[in-house]
Amino acid sequence: MWNQIQPVCCAKALLVIGVICVLSFGIGNAVHIPAYGSSEGATRPPDQLATLPGQLKFAHVIFRHGDRTPVDPYPTDPWNNIKFWPTGWGQLTNRGKEQHYELGKWLRNRYQSLLSSRYTNEDIFVQSTDVDRALMSAQSALSGLYEPQGNDIWNPRIDWQPIPVHTIPEKDDSILAMKASCPAYDYELATLEASSEFHALNERYRELFFYLSQNSGRLVKSFIEAQYLNNTLFIEKLYNMTLPVWTEKVYGRADLTYVSNFAFSIGTYTRSLARLKAGPLLKDIFERFDKKFNSQLTPDRSVWIYSAHDTTIANILNSLKLFELHSPPYAACIMLEMRVDDSNTPLVSVFYKNTTAEPLPLDIPGCGLSCPLKTLVNLYQDVLPKNWESECKRSTMMMTYEEANLGAATAILIFIITVLLCASYGLMIYYRRRNYRLYTSYSPMA
Ligand SMILES: *[C@@H]1O[C@H](CO)[C@@H](O)[C@H](O)[C@H]1NC(C)=O
Ligand SMILES: *[C@@H]1O[C@H](CO)[C@@H](O)[C@H](O)[C@H]1NC(C)=O
Ligand SMILES: *[C@@H]1O[C@H](CO)[C@@H](O)[C@H](O)[C@H]1NC(C)=O
Repeated sequence: MWNQIQPVCCAKALLVIGVICVLSFGIGNAVHIPAYGSSEGATRPPDQLATLPGQLKFAHVIFRHGDRTPVDPYPTDPWNNIKFWPTGWGQLTNRGKEQHYELGKWLRNRYQSLLSSRYTNEDIFVQSTDVDRALMSAQSALSGLYEPQGNDIWNPRIDWQPIPVHTIPEKDDSILAMKASCPAYDYELATLEASSEFHALNERYRELFFYLSQNSGRLVKSFIEAQYLNNTLFIEKLYNMTLPVWTEKVYGRADLTYVSNFAFSIGTYTRSLARLKAGPLLKDIFERFDKKFNSQLTPDRSVWIYSAHDTTIANILNSLKLFELHSPPYAACIMLEMRVDDSNTPLVSVFYKNTTAEPLPLDIPGCGLSCPLKTLVNLYQDVLPKNWESECKRSTMMMTYEEANLGAATAILIFIITVLLCASYGLMIYYRRRNYRLYTSYSPMA
């Protein structure tokens, strides 16, 4: 009997030891993060506006919504009352509408050669995150891009025509809102935040976080929470509201500004985070360029607009290694343009318009201002998911700390139970044999 039980016990024990090894390997792995410093890859636009080779064929436009009210003021905020913000929390303001109307007119001028003066769905597609301010910004931009002309004038009293803006619920949106569930991403991010590098960063700003928590009445324990608070103060200042005295020590100062800007780099801090967060959108964009070039795009459109958020801007720029630490301002706009030159090569240029000045093409690291599409796709291969859904699934190697600890605890429990079981079987057999031996050896004497 013992001989039969032994291999089972050993197999179980090996399995348990294996699980523990795998888990600790996972944790060990997790501590060493190949850090991709967001400011390292950043480049400055050249001094002069380059004249880009080729003819413009397609433009992808990704912009942040316009001026808005605070999303969620802090508890001790003297302006924490909806009566000061009649449009409601986190909503687009008239200033925001105006910013996007102007951007729309600017886009009309820039893409005159791509868009007919009258709206047709064969020219353009517009997609927004399912957030009011982004939807309204898209509509405001379109009112500048497509002022009705000729037969499109449907009501002489309104210099506006309806243009479709597409959206999908945030929880299903892996492309633009980047909010669809992705457990592998959550794991990566938790691992990054638990790394010694991030512990050191948090330690450096511990006093700042403490000061913010004490004064705002809300626990601030991360870069992003500090950024939210900074943002509320930023808006109130913009609206000429007097900030409480305690803010003078921190607001507008180097530390809080740095922390707020740095928070924008965290979501795509490593290449694998970038791949899972911004990869689906970049992949769509690159594939669409390719289809357009090969005349496979139906309808054969020329402009694609995405209306989104500051985080979208930062995530895309950082994934392209073009992000300089800053807070993307209202209506900040990335343009990825494809030109086709005389030798029939598709060339991609990236522009970033974050001021009212004319934007300059950015220097794509390792490829320049005008990057052949093929080279571009190879260059960013590391952030283009092959199959996002399966890459988002977690293996046992990829569990959150709590889960991993739970797993380890369960494994140890199983191990102990197994050992006890084995021991009791062993003892049972030992006593049986001993009894038998006792019986056989001593029975004649009994
Ligand atoms: C944080 O505050 C600084 C300083 O006023 C400002 O430049 C920056 O845009 C703010 N960032 C955010 C996300 O509000
Ligand atoms: C705040 O005050 C400045 C200077 O007086 C003014 O230019 C600006 O328009 C004001 N901002 C708002 C939102 O009223
Ligand atoms: C505009 O973008 C550049 C380059 O990314 C950045 O350095 C700068 O801080 C940004 N300006 C504003 C106003 O956000």
